[in-house]
Amino acid sequence: MRHERQVELLKRVGASGDHFAGLHAPQSVVQPASAYADPERFAEELRVLFRNGPTLLGLSCEMPSPGDYLSTVLDGIPILAVRQADGSVRAMINACRHRAAPLVTERAGNIGRSIVCGYHGWTYDTGGTLLARPLSAGAFDDVTITCDLHRVAVAEQYGLIFVRAGSAEPIDVDATLGGAQDDLGAFRLDTYTHIETRTNEWAMNWKLVLDTFTESYHIRWLHKNTIAPAFNSDCVIYDGFGRNCLSVGLRANVLDELAKPEDEWSLLPYGTIQYFLVPNALVVHQLDHVEVWRLEPLDVGRVRTHTSIFAPEPPDERALKYWTRNLDLLLQVTGTEDFPTMERIQAALSSGAVPEVVYGRIEPPLIHFHRAVDEALAAAEA
Ligand code: FES
Ligand SMILES: [Fe+2]
Repeated sequence: MRHERQVELLKRVGASGDHFAGLHAPQSVVQPASAYADPERFAEELRVLFRNGPTLLGLSCEMPSPGDYLSTVLDGIPILAVRQADGSVRAMINACRHRAAPLVTERAGNIGRSIVCGYHGWTYDTGGTLLARPLSAGAFDDVTITCDLHRVAVAEQYGLIFVRAGSAEPIDVDATLGGAQDDLGAFRLDTYTHIETRTNEWAMNWKLVLDTFTESYHIRWLHKNTIAPAFNSDCVIYDGFGRNCLSVGLRANVLDELAKPEDEWSLLPYGTIQYFLVPNALVVHQLDHVEVWRLEPLDVGRVRTHTSIFAPEPPDERALKYWTRNLDLLLQVTGTEDFPTMERIQAALSSGAVPEVVYGRIEPPLIHFHRAVDEALAAAEA
C-alpha cells in the first residue's frame, strides 16, 4: 500500500476522537431477516450478482503457467478458466458438448495441452475448440451444431481474474473494482505465490461469511480467549469503492505509530487490510502475506468457502510450514469461534422468530456491504 495512503488512513484514526467515534457511519440500519433467509431473495441474488455480474475467480498467481486452470460453480453454472500458451486466460462452461459431463472435477490443476472429457474422451484445445471425438468411427459426422465449449467472459488485471458466468459480455475490471484498484494494484498481487487453498461448507447464508469480517466490534467478546488482547474492538477504518469496500481492523497499539514523525508512519504492522469484492470475495492484506476468501453460495442457508494463503515469494520448506501454520490458525479461529456463531445466527433468522437484525454506526463496512447488495437487486428489478 502506498505510503501516502497509509498516512491518510492513520490520520483518520488519529482525528477520530473518543472511542474512534469519528469513524462511525452516519446512520444505523435495520435489515429484515429475509435478507438472509428468504429463498426467493436468494435466487435473485444468485441471478443478479453471481450469474450476471462479474465475480472474482482467483488470483493470477494461482494459474501462472499454460494449462493451469481454476474452476468454480456460480448459480449452478460450472466454469472452467484455463491459462493459454500466449499467457491469456479463457473461460468456458465446464460441461462437455457431447452430453455435458464435467471436463475438470478439481478446483484447480493443470490440464496439459488439451482438455479431455473423462466420459467418452472428446478432446478440446485449451481454448475450448473441439479437436477430436476419438473412437467414434465418424458417428457424429452428421451433427450440424458447433461442438466447441461455450465461452464466458473473463478479464485479468491487477493480479485478479474475474469471470461472468452467465454471458460473454465483457468485464471492465476498473469499473468492477470501483476505485479499489489504486490500493490493490499497489499490492502487486501478481507477484505472490499461492501456498494452499482449503475448502469448507457452512450452514449459513453466503452474506454471513462476509459479515464476519466486516467489523471489529465482535472481537472483544467473541474472541476474548484468543485474539482480543492484540486487537482494537472499537475501531474500523472504512472506505467504499462502488459495490466493494475496505475494512481495516486495527491492532490495539495503533496509536503508538502516531507518536512518530509522519514520514515514518506505517499502517501495515497494525492493520488487517480487507477488501470486500462484492459479491463473492474478500482479499486480505496482512503484514507479510495475503489471504483470499471466495464464496460459492449453495442454498439460502448453505455456502462453500475457499480460503487461500499467498506468500510474497516462493517458500522454502521452513517458510512453507510457517504459511501452513498461518492458514491453520486463521481457519481455527474462524472455524471454532466466528462461523459456529454465524451458523446459529442463520438458524435463528431462518426460524421466523427474529424479524430483523441491526447494523450499528460502529459497523460501517457491514452497512455498506448490505446496501450494495440491496441496491444491486433493486437496480435489476427497475
Ligand atoms: S460427455 Fe464428454 S465425451 Fe461424452
Ligand atoms: Fe471474528
